[in-house]
Amino acid sequence: MLQILCLALCGLLTCTRGEPRALLRLGMDIMNHEVQSAMNESHILEKMAAEAGKKRPGVKPIKGITDMKVKDVQLPVITLSFTPGAGIFQCVSTGMTITGKSFMGKNMEIIVVFNITATNRILQDEETGLPTFKSEGCEVILVSVKTNLPSNMMPNVINKFLDSTLHKVLPGLMCPAIDAVLVYVNRKWANLNTPIPIGQMGTVKYILTSIPTTTASYIQVDFSPVVQQQEGNAIQLADAGEAPEFPEYCVEGSSQLLLSAAFLTAELALLQKSLDFNIQDTTVGELPPQTTETLSGFIPEVAKAYRKPTPLVTQIRINKPPKVTMKTGKSLLRLRGTLEMFSAQQQGEAPVSLFLLKVHFNLKIQYSVRENRLQMTTSLERLLSLSRKSSSIGTFDEKKLTGFITDFLREAYIPAVNDVLRVGLPLPDFLDMNYNLAELNIVENALVMDLKLD
Ligand SMILES: *[C@@H]1O[C@H](CO)[C@@H](O)[C@H](O)[C@H]1NC(C)=O
Ligand SMILES: *[C@@H]1O[C@H](CO)[C@@H](O)[C@H](O)[C@H]1NC(C)=O
Repeated sequence: MLQILCLALCGLLTCTRGEPRALLRLGMDIMNHEVQSAMNESHILEKMAAEAGKKRPGVKPIKGITDMKVKDVQLPVITLSFTPGAGIFQCVSTGMTITGKSFMGKNMEIIVVFNITATNRILQDEETGLPTFKSEGCEVILVSVKTNLPSNMMPNVINKFLDSTLHKVLPGLMCPAIDAVLVYVNRKWANLNTPIPIGQMGTVKYILTSIPTTTASYIQVDFSPVVQQQEGNAIQLADAGEAPEFPEYCVEGSSQLLLSAAFLTAELALLQKSLDFNIQDTTVGELPPQTTETLSGFIPEVAKAYRKPTPLVTQIRINKPPKVTMKTGKSLLRLRGTLEMFSAQQQGEAPVSLFLLKVHFNLKIQYSVRENRLQMTTSLERLLSLSRKSSSIGTFDEKKLTGFITDFLREAYIPAVNDVLRVGLPLPDFLDMNYNLAELNIVENALVMDLKLD
């Protein structure tokens, strides 16, 4: 019974996972670069030449020509275009020079130029869940044939040659080349759904929401990322209301990554505990000494309780998950928790609580990328509210502490928060993407990174 309930519940959960929280748009710039570098890495040209040079059964030698060899294969020129609803149409234009000796002992050369075309359909691999390209409908189209054979020998010999060699053999020879290149492109997705750690606190996994879609100008990959605590609990992503969308300004053919505020909020939930601090330094930046004497200047009640200046210890506890919000050009981190001040006692004695305040404040976030991780640096935007929960020194007007607490947050607490954030948030690892060159823009409810190639 319990198992059935579990299954039903899991079913429900996967149903609600439908809305993507991170989107990737791959334009022609990146696809061209990827296919080119896959061509290079796969050494496909050398392999094609080696294959072409092999003796094959079923290939009739050309009558009257001996010692036939493939001398060289031309550097392939690759042209790609998007096929909406399918993937990428690929055309590889190349050619080869075939040499031999004619029956009169003359050197002869045949230069054939041809196009290999195929549609590389983008799919989601059933086993791994990763995006994968698969070629379909490969064809070899003859572009031209040139030879130095005497013209009276041409039609017959060449026609036979075309028929037996090019039409029958070339597709079998050249189409695997397209597949071989795709193997290299596909390999570069392999790390995409591997959990990436955020310090010791947990991991993020970029899981595809659905099969990638293709339009006339890009391939879009939607992600439903999984943010998991070290202990194994997944953090539920808040309902963002509307699905995030790319802004209109995006240039045709360019590539972008969009990370929703809801997703960044879930990632920061992993760091909530790390944002709790006890600060006991008496000298902090430009602040006056953190002692009961300084505090007395704001709350006279403190002076009555402490005649001698006693160092303060400040304890900040964040008791609600941090929340990231974004409006065009501006992103805030909302923190809610408590701030408790203690007077440090003599050695061996526990500090004594002076008062406990509920605090609520906003930090302004600046985003950047370092070592392929999203970096956040914060500064205090505003202390939103301050209310007294308890006090051992009697009632006082906590509003008088606004300036003191604001300075304290700015000088002592926020540098500590920035140290925690330095861990950086992982970005999807695909196609060897180098995010360090990306341009970042804050739009409504999302961060958009314009991806640039090296
Ligand atoms: C592929 O190799 C060619 C020739 O060596 C080079 O010019 C080109 O930059 C390389 N392309 C990529 C994407 O690695
Ligand atoms: C071969 O490919 C090139 C480059 O895409 C194209 O310009 C040309 O028209 C193609 N030729 C044939 C015969 O398909």
